[in-house]
Amino acid sequence: MVKVKSAFFCQNCGTQYAKWVGQCTACKSWNTVVEEVIQKEEKVPWESMAESPRKRSAPMAVSDIQTDHEVRMDLYDAEFNRVLGGGLVPGSLVLIGGEPGIGKSTLLLQTALKLPTKTLYVSGEESQRQIKMRAQRLDLNGPHCLILTETNTQKIFKQITSLEPELLVIDSIQTLYSDYIDSPPGSISQVRQCTSELIKYAKETNTPVILIGHITKDGNIAGPKILEHMVDTVLQFEGDQNYVFRILRALKNRFGSTSELGLYEMQGSGLREVLNPSEILISQNGESLSGTAIASTLEGVRPLMIEIQALVSSAVYGTPQRSATGYNVKRLNMLLAVLEKRVGFRLGAKDVFLNITGGIRVDDPAIDLAVVVAILSSNTDIPVDKGICFAAEIGLAGEIRAVQRVDQRILEAEKLGFHTIFIARSNQVATKNTKITIEKVSRLEDVVKALFG
Ligand code: TYD
Ligand code: MG
Repeated sequence: MVKVKSAFFCQNCGTQYAKWVGQCTACKSWNTVVEEVIQKEEKVPWESMAESPRKRSAPMAVSDIQTDHEVRMDLYDAEFNRVLGGGLVPGSLVLIGGEPGIGKSTLLLQTALKLPTKTLYVSGEESQRQIKMRAQRLDLNGPHCLILTETNTQKIFKQITSLEPELLVIDSIQTLYSDYIDSPPGSISQVRQCTSELIKYAKETNTPVILIGHITKDGNIAGPKILEHMVDTVLQFEGDQNYVFRILRALKNRFGSTSELGLYEMQGSGLREVLNPSEILISQNGESLSGTAIASTLEGVRPLMIEIQALVSSAVYGTPQRSATGYNVKRLNMLLAVLEKRVGFRLGAKDVFLNITGGIRVDDPAIDLAVVVAILSSNTDIPVDKGICFAAEIGLAGEIRAVQRVDQRILEAEKLGFHTIFIARSNQVATKNTKITIEKVSRLEDVVKALFG
């Protein structure tokens, strides 16, 4: 008889304890340590299925390692490819996290159905009929994609050995369980075991594996942080459920940059790649309205024009309200304090609401100037010309500061037909012969004078 062994795991960070403790000593969270039944592994799961003799690894000089010039798998999705750093690397494990209902299953099913290579889509969450319904909605046939509804890794591997797919998609890692561990699916030890079995499979057969992972309330991928360490690439699929835009962002990538970003639009028939984001994010009606200003920002390495809306009204209650959607409220408060000091904006008497259109969240400090202009425009009720945009940071002394990669921002603004861009005087511009007028300013007062007289 197998002796049942158990251990205690923190459900937050995955730290293992021999006995129960109230507070995890590693991540300091309370009441997260739970007992899980574990069993000693007798044999290595994937290897026991695959009859491939394992190659012994020997140390080698980097220059001697053969790479048969980087082959990457094309996913037939420009955004997805770019976020991965130019396609999927064979034998790599990619984890995609995101809130429930954001569109993870849609994205991967859509990708799997479009591929011309043999793909196995394993779902532990939906039945084959439900997936069929989704596929019909996406209007894709996917003759090369096979759907399997299974949650046991050993059974999945059995299918894999006969099918030999070129890509494996798992929806989701938290629903899988391995026979080698006794704890329930989704528990730390199961997630870790299933992932390590999949890693072994991926590395030995050189097949890429994409895993979907749930995220917890506070935005981390559910289960241990260890999961993120184990895989090669961690992507996050995010967006505001009330809006159509979804962003695919790389949080970790062993094979590419993490500053890349993919933009999608959720439509009735699936996710559509957004190739020219700026055009959509700016409201199309021609007239200039007070309280809006356009910023030239960078999302990853891609320039993006976004519209910022502000509403300033007299505070009815004692404490003025400050609220921001898609922007850091602390930074808003700081900018308001600068405005009070430099421009005489009466902070204490006004409610200020700020909104970045499209449900996108921006942390780029280069939108500071546009935020301030939108606030002043709403306050004075003077609209800003629609052909003007902004790209500068504001310092505590009210000085306009330089931003990185200003040339890219200027070119994007020019491409979209803006006639003037405000940047910091100290910003060096390398691009010559631009049609757009570059207005260089060094103090907030200069901007106010130029725009509001
Ligand atoms: P889903 O992929 O099930 O999310 P996740 O796997 O991340 O939990 O996405 C479901 C949402 O997407 C659902 O609210 C409906 C919406 N949706 C569309 O708008 N259009 C579509 O074509 C599909 C398939 C889903
Ligand atoms: Mg899903």
